[in-house]
Amino acid sequence: MLRLLLCLVTVISLTNCQVPPFMEECVNNAYPPPASHKVPTYVVNLDLPAAQRWTHVVKDKGPQIKNLLNEFKSFITDIFHGSQAIVDFIDKAGPLVDETLPQPFADEMRGIANVTGLKLGEIVFFNVFYEFFTVCTSIVAQDPTGKLYHVRNLDFGLFLGWDIKNNTWSVTELLRPMVIMVDFQKGGETVFKSINFAGYVGILTAIKPKLFTLTMNERFNKDGGYIGLLEWIAGQRTGQWMGFLTRNVMEKASSYLEAKVMLQNTEMLAPAYFILGGNATSGPFQQGCVITRAREYPVDVWDMESANGWYILETNYDHWEAPLFLDDRRTPAHHCMGNMTQQGVSIKGLYNVLSSRPVLNKLTTYSALMQVDSGHFEAWLQYCPEPCIPW
Ligand SMILES: *[C@@H]1O[C@H](CO)[C@@H](O)[C@H](O)[C@H]1NC(C)=O
Ligand SMILES: *[C@@H]1O[C@H](CO)[C@@H](O)[C@H](O)[C@H]1NC(C)=O
Ligand SMILES: *[C@@H]1O[C@H](CO)[C@@H](O)[C@H](O)[C@H]1NC(C)=O
Ligand SMILES: *[C@@H]1O[C@H](CO)[C@@H](O)[C@H](O)[C@H]1NC(C)=O
Repeated sequence: MLRLLLCLVTVISLTNCQVPPFMEECVNNAYPPPASHKVPTYVVNLDLPAAQRWTHVVKDKGPQIKNLLNEFKSFITDIFHGSQAIVDFIDKAGPLVDETLPQPFADEMRGIANVTGLKLGEIVFFNVFYEFFTVCTSIVAQDPTGKLYHVRNLDFGLFLGWDIKNNTWSVTELLRPMVIMVDFQKGGETVFKSINFAGYVGILTAIKPKLFTLTMNERFNKDGGYIGLLEWIAGQRTGQWMGFLTRNVMEKASSYLEAKVMLQNTEMLAPAYFILGGNATSGPFQQGCVITRAREYPVDVWDMESANGWYILETNYDHWEAPLFLDDRRTPAHHCMGNMTQQGVSIKGLYNVLSSRPVLNKLTTYSALMQVDSGHFEAWLQYCPEPCIPW
């Protein structure tokens, strides 16, 4: 933790000469972004044996997965003053952890390891990583006709290698080429769609067309994920991995309410925020909420009606507490939503909010936009133009 704080201080001192620290804007001309920022789509066939489902994806993206893993490893080796011990531990513990993982995830990871030629431990590690470093902005909003939109920025790579020359985060840069849209199908029909990093089998952003939409934001808490992970390795395995819970929700829940119950009550390895949108907006049935989770129980369920009425917004802080002053994307996002007004709720309007600094920052890998009734889902790689805040 001390080491992380030191990193933070270093980053601030490196960058505050170039970046106006609390610059804030609301852009209105970001949409549509250039076609080159469009995210490619892959179909994943859930009828195939688990070990074969991701073959075509990781055949394309294998080299990028390797680059990213090398970056993770060199970062970890740096933190521990050049010691290889943790990296060795990952290689050795990975297969052991895999034995304990539920199906189909264990087999999916074995298949990915097989195709990429990477060690199983590395693929398991790669999949754990997203439970810890995902800082984001998620918004569910309702347009004047009652249509629900759900959008998010996914910011990833905090503390993971600030590149002084390029003014970028090295992990964030390596992640962008791995962003894909996945169309999960059964019997040739879409069950749900997600935006994933190739090689990751869990879910951070997804839509079940006509029914519900889901995003997950990291919750930093002293009851943190490290403890859950260590307990898991030590054999105490009552909690689920967040990414597996969200994927089970996408596969199995058939309504907003069913999804809400699963996300509230399933014990997890790490705390999290779940942002859930449904398909109904009238009266008491307005369906949008933020579930603030501790590992074992829901700390709070915040409904759209008691938030801003026509929208609900979550970053990485409990909604009843002030965000860390160094990391306030929440207030600027509210400003831009306020400027847009409910009349402006649309793919274009919301993309503009997500493209306004500091909601858009150097960690932002992609913006995803979903409209539940039509099943519309689009995603764009994001690059933050200078001057841009590092997070
Ligand atoms: C690994 O892939 C090969 C083909 O590329 C396949 O024959 C083999 O069964 C796979 N092994 C596992 C454990 O999935
Ligand atoms: C830094 O920027 C240069 C020029 O744009 C590019 O060639 C190089 O690959 C970048 N380095 C990294 C680590 O992204
Ligand atoms: C909304 O979701 C419910 C399940 O909660 C479903 O029965 C209904 O058909 C959906 N409505 C629309 C318009 O798709
Ligand atoms: C509009 O945006 C500006 C700049 O971000 C902000 O100062 C102002 O409060 C916003 N207006 C509303 C109504 O939120």
